[in-house]
Amino acid sequence: LQVLADPPGGSFTPRIVTKGYGNWSEAYEKARAFVCDLTLTEKVNLTTAHGTGVAVGYSFGVIPRKGFRGLAWDDSPTGVRGSDYSSAGAAGLNLAMSWDRELIYLQMMANGAEHKAKGLNGALAPVVGPLGRAPEGGRNFESYSPDPYLSGIAFGESIAGMQAGGTIAVGKHYILYEQEHFREVRETNDFGYSPFNITEPYTVSCDDRTFHELYLWPWYDAVQKGMAGVMCSYNQVNGTQTCQNDHLMNDILKGELGFQGFITSDDGSQHSGIASALAGMDVTGPGETSPNGIDGLGISFWGPNLTLSVLNGSVPEWRLDDMATRIMAAYYYLGQDHDFPDLNFGGGGTYPTFGFIYPNAKLDYQQINFHVDVRDAHADVIRAVGANSITLLKNVNNTLPLKKPRQIAVVGEDAGPSMYGPNGCADRGCNNGTLAMGWGSGSTNFPYLVDPLAAIQARALRDRTEVQYVLNNFFAKTQIDSIVQQATVSLVFVNADSGEGYIEIDNNFGDRKNLTAWGRGDDLIKEVAANCSNTVVVIHAVGPILMEEWIDHPNVTAALFAGLPGQESGNSLVDVLYGDVTPSGKLPWTVGKTREDYGTDVLYAPNAPVPHINFTEGLFIDYRHFDKAGIEPRFEFGFGLSYTTFEYSDLHIEKLSSPAVATPAASYAPQTTFNPQICPSSKLNPSDYTFPSTISSIPNFIYPYLNANVTYTSNAAAPSSSIAPAPAGPQGGPPELYAPLYSISFSLKNTGEVSGQEVSQLYVNLGNGEPIRQLRGFNKTMLAAGVEKTVTIELRMRDLSIWDVVNQEWVDVTTLGTTVELWVGASSRDLKLKGEIAAAG
Ligand code: NOJ
Repeated sequence: LQVLADPPGGSFTPRIVTKGYGNWSEAYEKARAFVCDLTLTEKVNLTTAHGTGVAVGYSFGVIPRKGFRGLAWDDSPTGVRGSDYSSAGAAGLNLAMSWDRELIYLQMMANGAEHKAKGLNGALAPVVGPLGRAPEGGRNFESYSPDPYLSGIAFGESIAGMQAGGTIAVGKHYILYEQEHFREVRETNDFGYSPFNITEPYTVSCDDRTFHELYLWPWYDAVQKGMAGVMCSYNQVNGTQTCQNDHLMNDILKGELGFQGFITSDDGSQHSGIASALAGMDVTGPGETSPNGIDGLGISFWGPNLTLSVLNGSVPEWRLDDMATRIMAAYYYLGQDHDFPDLNFGGGGTYPTFGFIYPNAKLDYQQINFHVDVRDAHADVIRAVGANSITLLKNVNNTLPLKKPRQIAVVGEDAGPSMYGPNGCADRGCNNGTLAMGWGSGSTNFPYLVDPLAAIQARALRDRTEVQYVLNNFFAKTQIDSIVQQATVSLVFVNADSGEGYIEIDNNFGDRKNLTAWGRGDDLIKEVAANCSNTVVVIHAVGPILMEEWIDHPNVTAALFAGLPGQESGNSLVDVLYGDVTPSGKLPWTVGKTREDYGTDVLYAPNAPVPHINFTEGLFIDYRHFDKAGIEPRFEFGFGLSYTTFEYSDLHIEKLSSPAVATPAASYAPQTTFNPQICPSSKLNPSDYTFPSTISSIPNFIYPYLNANVTYTSNAAAPSSSIAPAPAGPQGGPPELYAPLYSISFSLKNTGEVSGQEVSQLYVNLGNGEPIRQLRGFNKTMLAAGVEKTVTIELRMRDLSIWDVVNQEWVDVTTLGTTVELWVGASSRDLKLKGEIAAAG
């Protein structure tokens, strides 16, 4: 018997939270009581999913002796992946487009509640990595925005909502995972990227300041909101896999951010046994060394290898206790020890009622899906998210809202249903019919999909409007010309899709190969506009698309960006088209005029056997780059029109009296002299770790047991024996960061004819080499026509701070002698009010 050869190297600084602090202390107490009663192998069992072949979600940690059924989890940010009778929500992209804290919370609470009702302890969601460094990034739509502030608010609200729904939010992917190409060796070499031969996943270099101010920023919000789980990503950072990166997991996530939950690997993102344990990984999500379900060989870096590593001292027992405690603390933190439903569905696209619990071994055939309807009234919130995220880009001659038009022409494949049905391609891995969800593990099954044509027809019926349509983008010019020439208004639909890297569509290997509309989109719009003077363009897309070929065409009278709205797509659209909902979405990124304008892109061909991606642009992604380089965008970050108009006036900046901040000592429990021991040492009798004679083994199932009685002399030479655990910081970083320092207020008036919501945005210039403007506050306000209101936005210490790489801390720039310029406006370039915060002292 041998320990897997992967010498950890370097020094490790684990952050153990023995007592738990803040509102985690009770959960930690219960977790410790539970964990300290376990044998060595029972603890190992908690850390290692039992590998491929379990039909019902990912499960791990079954402890029969304690009557503990183990934990189960499943994707995704849009719903319970692979289940039936569950909802298909709008993408993270739409949550960001809504800029609506309450709607974000509500949709994600619905998501959490549905996971729980299916019996899932955790949901592998929400997503904030990728942040969206390059608009081509295939999974950007799963997350929110390349702006870290907007992303932080959305990620934090999503976490809070999901956990209020009762499931553990496993925030992902940590971190600097900004593209799909080359994320995995297997995927790259064996699947679609041939002739490439990479030897390791891509590695990212990113300077510490950029890392803190952009990519790490939203994780602060999440930890502060109590996020209970994290998934480490596929990529490497500075040449080390994220899932064995001591600095990223121990120092930063568990130390600097004070994260008290567990870190799990992604499918195949764990590349080592001991190193990942020491660097702070707590759970091996798939269990297996390979992506779950591909090998099915039952080979794990952990499982029996972790048992052995603890026995021979390579991994100290307290590290295992810490892993197990963190997992159980998350369970108790969510209150899952009371009235938690049994797991009641089997994964897969076909929703089989009966199946094998261990399909690879063809064992235990029984009912695996109880078809529990968990949807509740969640369709209402999904429809509201769809409508309130739609972003109106152009609207001349009051084209919209529609006023009982006599005849509507609907054009484009994206307007109608797919010939294969809404779930016709596994994990939405094709682009047919209307696009309401991207592809990959960010998807879920549609219980139904209201396509735009169906919703428009239903509405038109009420108005006696005639509706003609052509859903073929390629071979129907004659038919299109004929219907659009007759129409009072033509609605032309285009889309652009992307997703996770294991699926390729039309040479888009996850990431988009370009930023243009799919399916002859530009030509289709131009054809319609050539024959109809009232052409409305509707875009369903995963991110920005280039619009230069048609957006200025005089016959394109309106354009809407609808993102990926989920099951209620058509209804949400009709709500806005007819003015039942006044559009209030704003762009969470820039629409450039060319692809090159963004200044960043995905690496499409490996530059080395270990592809190296250097984030040389630093802080300057998306609008920060456009502003710095003086590039005129087509539509700037934060842009979005309404059916009404708003007036901004009367800016007031008030310095708040030194806020009372909970003293760290009271809210958390750092230990300077540290005794790492969590539980009394295990007895370590062979009967605690050798394969029990009482169970008959299931083939390829990952058990924690060893086949032989080993001598476990503690290995004094093992690097772990010299590990000095360091204290963890308070949850979400120093509480001062969240203390409001200034209150910014102004008057907002609805000067139009209809009621509507405005997203007012607060931008600052922090000097010190920072971007010309960056978002540091926003407020979505509903105002009836003619009504005026005072809007207040608070600036916290974090909002005025930059990361000091020398002292490794956040510094409020006013203390550096910087006067902060500040603007309030309707977008990042439509700045209405200007003010200043004076340098301190
Ligand atoms: C791989 C994906 O990267 C991750 O997001 C997902 O949660 C897992 N597969 C499980 O499906």
